[in-house]
Amino acid sequence: MSLREARGDGVAILDFGSQYSQLIARRVREEGVYSELFYWDAPAAEVMALNPRGFILSGGPESVYAENAPRLPQYVLDSGLPILGICYGMQWVAYHLGGRGAPAVAHEYGPAEIELLPPLTPLLPSLPTLKVWMSHGDRIERLPADFIPLARSENSPYAAMGEVERGRYGVQFHPEVVHTLRGGEILRNFAVKVCNCRADWTAGNFISKAIAAIREQVGQSQMVLGLSGGVDSSVVAALAQRAIGDRLTCIFVDTGMMRQGEPEQVVATFQREQGMRLVAVNAVEEYLEMLDGVTDPEEKRLLIGERFVRIFEREALKLGDPRQLFLGQGTIYPDMIESAAKDRPGAHKIKSHHNVGGLPEEIEFAGIVEPLRFLFKDEVRKVGLALGLPDEIIWRQPFPGPGLAIRILGEITWEGLERLRQADAILRDELAQRGWLRQEKGVGTAQAFVVLLPVRSVGVMGDARTYEQPAVIRAVQTDDFMTADWARLDWDLLAQTSSRIVNEVDGINRVVYDVTSKPPATIEWE
Ligand code: XMP
Repeated sequence: MSLREARGDGVAILDFGSQYSQLIARRVREEGVYSELFYWDAPAAEVMALNPRGFILSGGPESVYAENAPRLPQYVLDSGLPILGICYGMQWVAYHLGGRGAPAVAHEYGPAEIELLPPLTPLLPSLPTLKVWMSHGDRIERLPADFIPLARSENSPYAAMGEVERGRYGVQFHPEVVHTLRGGEILRNFAVKVCNCRADWTAGNFISKAIAAIREQVGQSQMVLGLSGGVDSSVVAALAQRAIGDRLTCIFVDTGMMRQGEPEQVVATFQREQGMRLVAVNAVEEYLEMLDGVTDPEEKRLLIGERFVRIFEREALKLGDPRQLFLGQGTIYPDMIESAAKDRPGAHKIKSHHNVGGLPEEIEFAGIVEPLRFLFKDEVRKVGLALGLPDEIIWRQPFPGPGLAIRILGEITWEGLERLRQADAILRDELAQRGWLRQEKGVGTAQAFVVLLPVRSVGVMGDARTYEQPAVIRAVQTDDFMTADWARLDWDLLAQTSSRIVNEVDGINRVVYDVTSKPPATIEWE
């Protein structure tokens, strides 16, 4: 069974540039139906290869009347499959089928109430009114033939429309945004009642299908996987071990740039508890030597990434002829979406990201095994939980490939690393005590860590003057790590953390809190 078959029934989402497009895909999947995101201009063959049972057209920033506005592709209409147009997507359905739109008298942004009109359709709930989230400039003034109005708001005479027989709908509001009450239900209605998808997209189902797919792909060969201790590579390891047992070898490289206790935890979890074949490489000296005197952030990133690949190659080659060897990767769906976005014209590079487990390009492997490449992070976590991985791994906050090296600004020394490890462990301990090492329903942190600055300031301890380094607390809330807001941490937590860091860690005499969002800052300092 291929991974594509492993996914089951699905809905294709065409992205017209809305900030909410990924959210549509996640919401549909939360309702138990597989969905995938494509650019509006993706080749028809690529989209239709999913064998979709329907299309959702996202919103977008343009007006359908603008020159060069992304267009609704003809194959979507020709397919005869159900369509749900959201906002800009709805405008296109109307425009294409002979309706008429115009700039709204007043733009509608934010919460609004719509009045639902009879008849009852499979799409919308049976209610007189509904609170929804609007965000649009244009509105529809005349419906295309065969469409009937399904809702109206103060500013939109046609806040929803439908051609029930052919399963074509449009909504001016955003059902994917949490502020639209019963939005999940509307998306589920579309997928299940209109498109006839089975709602059987669950972690448990995915696991058995993914294991079968790995078995089929790898056959009797061996597989090698770079394990970082993060949730993605850990879940790939657990799936692959269930699929091919001892024919999987995991390689863990201790770069010396990990957080406190992490190397020990990886070995304990995977080698001792899960009984995997794990090669743990101690490369601490090698990395320190390589980074001696290096202060430029990009240089650090590139050196660390390259060296990782070289060590990984060295260890992988010990397993035999690489052309007989499969390479496992913890690539997840947002990575795929992001790299596709980077390839689009006009994209800018901000930082050279690298994943531990990055791809050795020089070696020709038998194939790449990426069982998570269509999963969102929350789905990966559910799979990990169902596989019985420990909580510390499932809920581990993202940790960048270059590790603490990009959280010590300037030169990296062993002393600095140990100092940062201690301070960072204190922050995480304080957050963990309050359950804030994860972000749930707007509480807690999606990522929180300490950064060490290469300057010194004056302080006083006991009766003595100190002249030591400051530590920065960086804590953010974010859903997608593309934008982030600094976390409004509790004053008591900040006070307690600051006092513990200054008292317990030698060489730090001051703690500051980073109150910058992304953009304009990034989450990491380098
Ligand atoms: P920035 O600093 O760009 O970070 O706002 C966004 C997210 O990416 C993580 N990050 C990395 N992850 N390899 C990774 O796998 C890297 O080289 C890397 N650099 C940054 C960062 O921790 C944050 O979660």
